[in-house]
Amino acid sequence: MTGEMNLQTLLASIHPVLREGEYVYVLWPHGRPLEAGIEAAVREAEGLTVVLPRAEADNLGLPYDFVAAWITLEVHSALEAVGLTAAVSKALTDARISCNVLAGFHHDHLLVPVADAARALEALAELSAESRHEPRPELVLRTESPADREQILGLTAEAFAISPATGQPAVGEPVEVKMLRELFDCEEYLPELSVVAVIDGEVVGHVISTRAWVEDHELLGLGPISVAPRLQRHGIGTALMNETISRANAAGEYGIALLGSPVYYSRFGFVPASSMGVLPPQDGWAEHFQLLPLAVWAGGIHGTFRYAGPLARM
Ligand SMILES: CC(C)(COP(=O)(O)OP(=O)(O)OC[C@H]1O[C@@H](n2cnc3c(N)ncnc32)[C@H](O)[C@@H]1OP(=O)(O)O)[C@@H](O)C(=O)NCCC(=O)NCCS
Repeated sequence: MTGEMNLQTLLASIHPVLREGEYVYVLWPHGRPLEAGIEAAVREAEGLTVVLPRAEADNLGLPYDFVAAWITLEVHSALEAVGLTAAVSKALTDARISCNVLAGFHHDHLLVPVADAARALEALAELSAESRHEPRPELVLRTESPADREQILGLTAEAFAISPATGQPAVGEPVEVKMLRELFDCEEYLPELSVVAVIDGEVVGHVISTRAWVEDHELLGLGPISVAPRLQRHGIGTALMNETISRANAAGEYGIALLGSPVYYSRFGFVPASSMGVLPPQDGWAEHFQLLPLAVWAGGIHGTFRYAGPLARM
């Protein structure tokens, strides 16, 4: 059976499929008979590298570093086909996903970090859609409605499944979900500042800002903000932040404060809040507690920041 050679046809029909489980690369012990669970092997002068399910490596006591998800491109590509690997690598590189490619007789296989599997599938689906000249689905930003709530809470649970603060999986429901539920019902809720990002009718991002204070001055406290993991790094978070800033400016708000990574939020003009005389509610937050002074920012707003009730209790 001859495989497809035409790059355009290949890309239009790559059909990426995620295999079940997690896979690892290990250096096979010299002289040891091969086991049945091995999925791929490469002989090098330094020794034999094998790829096998993580559980098998654990059973055999073999050490590994890289834990991968295995994606098979189900299109039947000819081994002589030119450009498929380059196009796939570029799409994944643009999404900042590292990728190891294995070519079998029938298909190409991609080993990507487990945490990036969903984003990789999304990037490959986009690459395929582009080559079919399908229009990119439009991103709509709009005020949240009560009918969106369940989707927003589900999305927030997904986005915070790995805690951004600790890098560890959340135990049970992430605290941000409970916090958000309470924010929807609290006195400090501001309907116009709970914004969803929607693609093809699906809520793929959400950000909320609620009333907060420094002394008697009204400010905004932003958070939580969530983007569906498979669509992260596509500019949806940036769009939600810019929409919030523009709505807050239009409403004549003085400033927005938040707790988060200075690397991310400084791109929107956030600065350490303490440099503006606004102190975090908790001492340890240091430069992670940031403030964006808006167009009508008035000097003389000094003191400790007070979040809406549900955030103040966190
Ligand atoms: C943070 C989050 C909302 C950003 O949304 P996004 O749509 O992925 O972001 P964008 O595509 O607009 O921007 C991506 C850029 O932000 C950077 N970025 C995203 N999260 C970051 C973080 N926590 N720290 C530093 N940089 C971050 C990315 O590295 C990327 O940088 P690049 O443009 O140089 O590649 C999203 O990643 C998310 O939901 N994360 C999980 C929940 C979370 O951490 N919420 C914020 C808590 S403060």
